[in-house]
Amino acid sequence: MPRLSSIFIRASLVYLVLGFTFGSLILAQKGVPFAPFIWALLPIHIEFLILGWLTQLALGVAFWILPRLTSNTPRGDERWSWATFALVNLGIAVNIAAPYAGFIWLGLLARILQAAGVAAFAIGNWQRIYPLKFSFSARQ
Ligand code: HEM
Repeated sequence: MPRLSSIFIRASLVYLVLGFTFGSLILAQKGVPFAPFIWALLPIHIEFLILGWLTQLALGVAFWILPRLTSNTPRGDERWSWATFALVNLGIAVNIAAPYAGFIWLGLLARILQAAGVAAFAIGNWQRIYPLKFSFSARQ
């Protein structure tokens, strides 16, 4: 597994643990109210599980298993995909901070960062989307 994929997937597992923990706390608060401020974790729960867990798991696995290029750079220019990791995670951090920062455009900035991140992934891996060329001798 390439180093970037293991970083993506390990990060996604951390977000999974945190996201489920926050979800469990919110669920407990719904059942037996004990600390109303727990509801403040809801946007973090959503962000961690959709962007942190699901998105990064998919990106990490995709970077690993998409067809490799027949060159000495099998995964193309990897800097695009490293930028994806940085931008998606920066976007998560900015989005979490947005409600507390008192700057209304921060939420939008977070989404712009994340959109730029996935666009970078598409650019960096575009050439890897091609049909595999197998020749089956039994059919000849
Ligand atoms: C991949 C897994 C998950 C994803 C993508 C996810 C996503 C979401 C989303 C989008 C909402 C907002 C729903 C809305 O406002 O209508 C939400 C709410 C919630 N989630 Fe999750 N969730 C996940 C797993 C979990 C788990 C494992 C738990 C608990 C153990 C949990 C507990 C909750 C609770 C209690 C709410 C609040 C429901 C309410 O507003 O009454 N979630 N989740």
